[in-house]
Parts: sequence; structure tokens; C-alpha cells
Amino acid sequence: MKRPIILHPDPRLKKTSLYISDLTDDLRLLADDMLETMYGAPGVGLASPQVGILKRLVVLDCVKADTNAPRPLIMFNPEIVASSEEISVYEEGCLSMPEQFAEVTRPAQVQVKWIDRDGKEQSEEMSGLWSTCIQHEIDHLDGKLFIDYLKPLKRQMITRKMIKFKRERARENL
Ligand code: NI
Repeated sequence: MKRPIILHPDPRLKKTSLYISDLTDDLRLLADDMLETMYGAPGVGLASPQVGILKRLVVLDCVKADTNAPRPLIMFNPEIVASSEEISVYEEGCLSMPEQFAEVTRPAQVQVKWIDRDGKEQSEEMSGLWSTCIQHEIDHLDGKLFIDYLKPLKRQMITRKMIKFKRERARENL
């Protein structure tokens, strides 16, 4: 089942999500819903606060859909355990900020560990879009958005555009 995606600005997107100590069927269901929501958007990553749940859960698939088989990842308690000194700059967007993009600088490679859907611990070195994306999604779990890396003026401009976007959308839905 697809879930509505929360749009910036919203206080829920600024909160820190809680570690998951007990992997329940409800959380597995939430993860499946989040994948469906992400693919439907369409997007390459989604974090639980974006659907209003403040638990540490991220879904991810950065495979280019037109050329390769999908690779859906469900990540409970994802964590960066090491980051490269090499950096990369990528033009990021966010499902909570439709049509807003800006360049963000992050470590080019990261070592990530997480708990998968079966409760098994996984670890992987990610690079390229995967690396950018998992860092962006884990930031969501800490109440951080990609615009927080930008200069205040640019950040305020995007926020103003989003307030206008939400106002227009609310009017359409009356
Ligand atoms: Ni995002």
C-alpha cells in the first residue's frame, strides 16, 4: 500500500528517529509499503520520517531501472561506519521537496551496515549514487535535509518555494 509522502516544511522531518530494537511484522509491512511508495513516486530512496514514522528505516534502490534489474534494499538501523576522504558532488533532490535540486558535497564512498528484512546484519561499501543516496536517507533519520548543507539564502529560497507549493496543492484539494 502506498503511503502519502510528507512535504517540507514539516516538524516531523526535523526529528531524530528511534533505533529499532524489535523487528516486528508491522515494521516489515511498513518497509514494503515504503518501497511501493518510493517506486511509485518515482524515487531512489525513502526514509521513514517521510511517511510520518520516526523509526530508523530506509528503503533504497539506485539501480537505473531502464537498463538493469531492480535491487530493492530494506535497511533497518542503517549506519555509516566509515567514510572516504575522497568527496563527490551530486545534484540531489528529495521526495519531500518535489522539483527542488541542489549540489551537495559528501564523502564519495561509505561503508554501511544495517539489519535486513530477515533480521540479518549486512555490510557493504557503497559508491556513486548509492553512496550519495544512503547518506541522504540516513540524514533524514537524524532530522537533517539536503538543503541544510546549502547556504542560508538558497535554503530559504527552496523553503519559500515549498511553502507556496504546499499552499497551492492544499487549495487544489479543497
Ligand atoms: Ni530525501
